[in-house]
Amino acid sequence: MKKRDILLLIGALAIILFLVAAPDETTTRVPSDETHQRFYSLVKEEGKKAAEKFCEDCHNEEQVAFPKDHPPKFRCLFCHKLEQ
Ligand code: HEC
Ligand code: HEC
Repeated sequence: MKKRDILLLIGALAIILFLVAAPDETTTRVPSDETHQRFYSLVKEEGKKAAEKFCEDCHNEEQVAFPKDHPPKFRCLFCHKLEQ
């Protein structure tokens, strides 16, 4: 393998690691409080997709508004992990 190829490979690996690890490390987790507790069991029983249907009942412009620079919101739980 050429030196340039090795550097490219390392660069690509670094980007992949960043994409996989970054949301987990820095994005606010879903609080394990009374409001969100029921989603912990719902995720366990029926999966993330089932739980996510309810997030926007409260998280919307009228109630708990999103930060202005919030990224696209489909699939909340891909970015906002549950507490461990
Ligand atoms: C019944 C209303 C309600 C529903 C449904 C709801 N939330 Fe929340 N959420 C709140 C309220 C109120 C807050 C702010 C106070 C708090 O932290 O509990 C909040 C806060 C948060 C926060 C920020 C916590 C922080 O530390 O600032 C995240 C992340 C979040 N919710 C994610 C979710 C996700 C993901 C779902 C769907 C699985 C969801 N919420 C469903 C009411 C709700
Ligand atoms: C592509 C990733 C992504 C998705 C999908 C996503 N979010 Fe976020 N969310 C973020 C980021 C990044 C922030 C900025 C603050 C942070 O780091 O948590 C944020 C902030 C928030 C906050 C404020 C947290 C705080 O610390 O004040 C709430 C509440 C929230 N999101 C709820 C949701 C809900 C509900 C959904 C689904 C409808 C959702 N998010 C989907 C990435 C995402």
